[in-house]
Amino acid sequence: MTLRPRLTKNALIFGGTAAWGLFLVSCVMVNRNVIMPPTVPGATFVGSKACEECHADVTKGFGGATHAKLMTPGDAQKEMGCESCHGPGSVHTKSGGGAGTIVNPQKKADTCYQCHLEKRGEFNLPYGHKPGVVGCSECHDPHKGDAIKGGGVRLASANETCLKCHESQRGPYVFEHEALRDNCSVCHNPHGSTNPKMLKARNATLCLQCHYQQQTATGLYIGGRDHQTYLQQRGTCWSAGCHEAVHGSHVNSSLRF
Ligand code: HEC
Ligand code: HEC
Ligand code: HEC
Ligand code: HEC
Ligand code: HEC
Ligand code: HEC
Ligand code: HEC
Repeated sequence: MTLRPRLTKNALIFGGTAAWGLFLVSCVMVNRNVIMPPTVPGATFVGSKACEECHADVTKGFGGATHAKLMTPGDAQKEMGCESCHGPGSVHTKSGGGAGTIVNPQKKADTCYQCHLEKRGEFNLPYGHKPGVVGCSECHDPHKGDAIKGGGVRLASANETCLKCHESQRGPYVFEHEALRDNCSVCHNPHGSTNPKMLKARNATLCLQCHYQQQTATGLYIGGRDHQTYLQQRGTCWSAGCHEAVHGSHVNSSLRF
């Protein structure tokens, strides 16, 4: 069995059999489930090298991709990176790329769910992006670099992923909420949530991740101001009359409107 080191994070383990029969996932998301890559009727696995001939544009960037770590390296074994998402490629390859001979996960997220099982649950929550409308690859790149677009160190470009569709949150604002310099996912779960607007929390907890709250004899202080009655009377910190312009404001430094 050959394993590449970083895989231990989500602990995907490949059984290195010649036929690459099955691989095991033992991790936080699935408890010892045996999973299979997608199937294509009548097809067998040919290995990633076989894709190079016709899809050099994809294969050339794949080395540094998050999912390239799924490959089983070594001479004896075929590198199965591509087919772990696209299914066995023999029929596709022989037919020179015939229609309907290979799986395209863009159309169905099931391929991704087989390894990221917990995401299926998140996408079924009442508030979320609908996979049929906003596919995984709008925000994730399976073929090159970090699988999270704009991920790693470049937070500005992580927001860019969201802003290409959500223009009205772009600003620039006269008073920008500095929370946006972190990234959109500090407050939203893009995969789905039980809270409206895909919020990570439906109450002040969302804001208290960053804003310190101090209870004293005279009141409950946030940002140097007593919030005791506000928090009792209003629904949320972003209710009308409070910090309604939660992403940023053109007129009010306290993000009220
Ligand atoms: C993590 C899963 C995953 C892996 C691994 C993967 N792909 Fe893909 N592939 C996708 C998804 C998702 C799409 C649809 C992307 C889109 O349309 O934006 C796709 C689309 C494609 C397409 C058609 C669209 C295009 O970009 O021309 C080709 C060809 C392709 N992949 C080839 C490959 C090859 C070759 C490899 C291995 C080097 C590979 N893929 C590895 C998930 C994967
Ligand atoms: C002999 C050439 C050839 C080889 C080898 C080949 N493909 Fe293709 N592939 C094509 C052609 C032609 C198309 C259709 C036109 C296009 O989208 O580029 C295609 C399309 C695809 C698509 C998009 C299918 C869709 O329904 O949207 C994927 C995904 C894909 N190939 C993956 C692979 C993978 C993975 C391998 C290696 C196992 C591979 N291909 C090997 C020629 C080839
Ligand atoms: C064969 C199993 C497998 C399939 C299929 C698969 N993934 Fe993954 N994916 C993994 C593993 C394992 C990791 C963790 C790699 C690591 O941490 O180095 C990962 C990592 C990721 C990450 C990055 C996590 C991070 O913290 O950087 C994203 C995003 C992701 N996958 C999305 C997808 C999407 C979208 C698809 C479908 C197009 C998909 N995956 C298909 C196994 C898979
Ligand atoms: C490809 C376009 C696209 C991208 C990229 C995108 N969204 Fe969305 N977003 C939508 C659509 C369309 C909806 C409406 C719900 C649906 O049909 O999926 C939506 C809905 C939402 C909503 C709920 C709005 C409401 O009124 O309930 C929030 C919040 C949101 N997106 C945040 C984000 C964040 C954060 C990101 C980046 C991580 C992001 N979106 C990336 C298209 C996109
Ligand atoms: C609207 C944008 C968007 C869509 C659509 C989306 N994701 Fe994500 N995903 C993200 C962002 C942003 C992160 C980073 C989360 C963070 O920073 O907290 C992420 C992280 C992940 C991760 C790694 C971290 C984690 O939460 O476990 C996986 C795995 C993943 N996504 C899988 C998927 C799959 C599978 C799909 C499609 C079914 C999908 N995502 C669709 C935006 C998206
Ligand atoms: C500090 C937390 C926070 C951050 C960071 C944040 N949002 Fe929001 N967002 C909210 C809250 C709270 C709401 C609900 C507002 C309401 O219901 O009036 C919301 C609502 C939305 C909506 C729905 C808009 C509507 O008119 O109902 C979209 C779309 C959205 N956010 C996108 C984004 C994007 C894109 C980013 C990153 C650029 C982002 N958000 C960053 C807290 C945040
Ligand atoms: C990721 C961290 C983070 C989160 C989450 C967050 N904020 Fe902020 N917020 C900041 C930072 C940093 C500042 C600028 C420094 C300061 O004024 O405390 C700021 C400033 C503000 C200001 C302006 C203060 C002033 O008068 O100058 C308001 C109002 C505000 N936030 C409200 C909210 C609300 C409401 C929420 C929840 C929806 C929230 N914040 C969530 C980080 C965050």
